[in-house]
Amino acid sequence: MSEPGIGTGWPIELSDGRITLRPLHRRDGRTWNAVRSANAEWLAPWEATHPEGAGRPLTFGAMVRGFDREARAGRMLPFAVHLNGHFVGQVTVSGIVWGSLRSGQIGYWIDRSVAGQGVTPTAVAMTVDHCLFGLGMHRLEVNIRPENVASLRVVEKLGFRAEGVRRRYLHIDGAWRDHATFAITPEDVPGGLLTRWRRAQRVLAAQNDERATWPPQSSV
Ligand SMILES: CC(C)(COP(=O)(O)OP(=O)(O)OC[C@H]1O[C@@H](n2cnc3c(N)ncnc32)[C@H](O)[C@@H]1OP(=O)(O)O)[C@@H](O)C(=O)NCCC(=O)NCCS
Repeated sequence: MSEPGIGTGWPIELSDGRITLRPLHRRDGRTWNAVRSANAEWLAPWEATHPEGAGRPLTFGAMVRGFDREARAGRMLPFAVHLNGHFVGQVTVSGIVWGSLRSGQIGYWIDRSVAGQGVTPTAVAMTVDHCLFGLGMHRLEVNIRPENVASLRVVEKLGFRAEGVRRRYLHIDGAWRDHATFAITPEDVPGGLLTRWRRAQRVLAAQNDERATWPPQSSV
């Protein structure tokens, strides 16, 4: 019997307002390289590294071919994130396992020049809904270095469950680093994560407005 999801989810494009997720194409190479090199310092502390040293970096073309192969095999969803039509980052579901697990791990990064606008949580919410309700996966997890305050905020705002710390879990920025694990299953978000995130955004915006007008004019 063929597994649900395998080979059926790629290529695909997901959109919500000004944010679009789509596969990278070979023609994106110049833009991708420019955004990555402009953000090299910003990304370095959180980048996966090879335990035996750097080796020869993949060309962009080889990377895209590898993404496409893995995605068509149902093992990966490597999305490029576009904001108003401009490439600004990536959200990738990797290590997808089917069988009785149906799980995958989400990773993400964004161009520093558009950080703090809620682009990543929206992109992650779209990805989670596609995986859980479109492809029939059952669990998505995000693993984050405890020092990564911005990334911890992403999963906190989206309401992922904290599952504890995995010691020396991933080789990041040249060493084996502890990671906090966060997870979500369809039972946690019966109405979808994007809908819940939109509601949370409205609450956060109202709280910010309240803070901006404190103390109330009448009590000054
Ligand atoms: C983690 C990351 C993807 C968040 O993306 P984002 O689109 O900025 O997400 P948000 O807009 O929800 O902002 C998340 C937090 O970033 C911080 N932040 C806000 N504005 C910022 C800015 N201009 N610059 C840097 N960080 C900012 C805030 O702590 C914010 O939380 P808040 O909403 O409570 O204020 C992004 O910071 C990034 O790419 N970091 C480097 C790579 C990385 O850490 N990847 C994840 C590895 S697990």
